Amino acid sequence: ISLQPYNTFGMEVKARYFASFSNVTELQELLQLPEVQQLSKLILGGGSNVLFTRDFDGVILKNNIQGIEVTRLDDDYSLVKAGSGVNWHEFVLYTIEQGLGGLENLSLIPGTVGAAPLQNIGAYGVELKDVFENLEAVHIATGELKLFNAEECKFGYRESIFKNELKGQYIVVSVTLRLHQKPIFNTSYGAITQTLASMQVENLNPKVISEAVCQIRRSKLPDPAQIGNAGSFFKNPEILITQFTELQKQYPGIPSYPTTPGKVKVPAGWLIEQAGWKGRRYDTYGVHKDQALVLVNYGGAQGNQVKELAHQIIHSVQEKFGIQLHPEVNII
Ligand code: EPU
Repeated sequence: ISLQPYNTFGMEVKARYFASFSNVTELQELLQLPEVQQLSKLILGGGSNVLFTRDFDGVILKNNIQGIEVTRLDDDYSLVKAGSGVNWHEFVLYTIEQGLGGLENLSLIPGTVGAAPLQNIGAYGVELKDVFENLEAVHIATGELKLFNAEECKFGYRESIFKNELKGQYIVVSVTLRLHQKPIFNTSYGAITQTLASMQVENLNPKVISEAVCQIRRSKLPDPAQIGNAGSFFKNPEILITQFTELQKQYPGIPSYPTTPGKVKVPAGWLIEQAGWKGRRYDTYGVHKDQALVLVNYGGAQGNQVKELAHQIIHSVQEKFGIQLHPEVNII
């Protein structure tokens, strides 16, 4: 089966087997099939964070678990539980329609609810972990259902236990978030403040913030339906303050975000642009013209070509700034 419709990079690769599941029982049954047990498995949600560089000689398990349930806890909070196959942005819009706050800054992120905790998705000053309550996941080896609270997920910047110690061992089936009845807004991010001002917003609410975020994202990030991509290809690197102050002498305009004490996060997009890569195009693939952190497939590119481009960028940023970039996208 062709995987082209199942990855937002639009890479034309094939998988040996393909199965989808719509509930926990179906998933548990699939996991008991000998073919599924013997072959390597890849769980796909929206396919918005993978770069396929070759055919997949195993079984793709496509997550199609739907459903959203809202439970009012008290005057301040509601718990919202969603099936892991629900589209993330549709989920965000649903919670906003219910008058709930907490996800507006995370509007328009491609992918599914189930993929969100794996890499603790984040944008415009908010991360999933800020509203996370728990998730349920099926253990691939035993089929058992297990509940993980926030602490057990070990969230970090684009990190969780599911990308590290428990990599490849669990399949997320539902995610529960604690959202605000009386929203508190995070508009600290410069671009949001400016966009809200240009929209002449008088009263803040989750809906207008969501609209501002959508406007910003649409202005910088290519729509995967038009140009294949997987969002930020690299993570923003964390460097020591001492290295940063050295770099500042040479590059006074170098931007940074605060992160763990003693370190700062530098936008990889800035480093890549300074190294001369922004907008560079090689026929079918290249670096996006409005956001250098995004690598794109204009149609017909091979995953290996994009991977090679990523290596060249890593090398060039290392040479120029002495900073090591790490891919955020899963390369398969
Ligand atoms: N910049 C450049 N050139 C570029 C791109 C960015 O100079 O080509 C500079 C900007 O001028 C700005 C800074 O870099 O000073 C930050 O840029 P931006 O606000 O676009 O955010 P980012 O740090 O590049 C991160 C996330 C995005 C998220 C935005 C907004 C990562 C890896 N990426 O990007 O997440 O939407 O912040 O919060 O942390 C994703 O993970 O797929 C993703 C899109």
